[in-house]
Amino acid sequence: MENTLSGIETELKQIQAAFDVELRQADTLERIEHLRVAYLGKKAKITELLHSFKSLSNEDKPKAGALVNAARNLVQSGLESQTDKIKTQELSSVWGKEKIDITLPGRSLPSGKKHPLTLVTEEVTGIFGRLGFAVAEGPEIETDENNFGKLNIHSDHPARDLHDTLYLSDSLLLRTHTSPVQVRVMEKVKPPLRFLFPGRVFRRDPVDASHSPFFHQLEGLLIDREIRFSHLKGVLEAFLREFLGRDLKIKFLPSYFPFTEPSAEVLVEWKGGWLEILGCGMVHPRVLKNVGIDPEEWTGFAFGVGLDRLTLLKYGIDDLRLLFENNVNFLKQF
Ligand code: PHE
Repeated sequence: MENTLSGIETELKQIQAAFDVELRQADTLERIEHLRVAYLGKKAKITELLHSFKSLSNEDKPKAGALVNAARNLVQSGLESQTDKIKTQELSSVWGKEKIDITLPGRSLPSGKKHPLTLVTEEVTGIFGRLGFAVAEGPEIETDENNFGKLNIHSDHPARDLHDTLYLSDSLLLRTHTSPVQVRVMEKVKPPLRFLFPGRVFRRDPVDASHSPFFHQLEGLLIDREIRFSHLKGVLEAFLREFLGRDLKIKFLPSYFPFTEPSAEVLVEWKGGWLEILGCGMVHPRVLKNVGIDPEEWTGFAFGVGLDRLTLLKYGIDDLRLLFENNVNFLKQF
């Protein structure tokens, strides 16, 4: 009977019916695995039916093959859906037992904060931003030419003593101030100019409460027509009072920088004395010529303010070293 196409078809229907009954009773993953072996394994009835194909006509063979494949697919998908069912039941019974206490306090990660120096830099660039100054940056490794030469500080200039630094080669060094960024920008951008250059600078300074071999400056540069010292004074006073308070005591003292003329430094009252926080002046005509700007047509001012010292003043910190020690307990306060 099996040896005809209709015999095979009947046989498959019976196998299918028996499988359906057993499948419904299979309520564990092990039983499903047994069924899989019994119905799809090497010794399974469906597999064995293939042996009876020999006696079929060539015309019936492919038809019988298709019937067998269809039966195997039905078994396969029956096993899969029953497996899914069992797994879902297992999960929901676990969830039913395990209660989640949603009233427990959460475990939060400590959130990071901005370093006080970053806060100050952002506030300062914000204040100058409203006066029309845009921010630009230059590299910490500079050429001797940009750091000194084009700023009118020649190789035998005594000002170099205060700006001793680490040389990476004869012509490359760690910049000692942010003023070389003035050179870079003036060489590229045509005036009028209004820029701020914040960044890290390096000097051979021993560490104490107000000195460090690296520190941070913010350079300001304004080049336009008919700019006078009074503009410089007005801008800096406006900035310092907004940043540190209306009744801040400020002092402008005549000073000397090879790249500004006239030059001044600004001191503010700190711990009963005076703390120098910035150097400034009118950009020297020779510096303008060095970068290809006509000093007859353009004038301007520049200043370099110590961001670390501004941070001490702003937050009443009395030791610069605290800014660089990465002590989380200290930094958390800001
Ligand atoms: N670059 C000077 C310094 O670091 C400060 C300065 C900047 C002075 C710009 C004048 C103009 O000491």
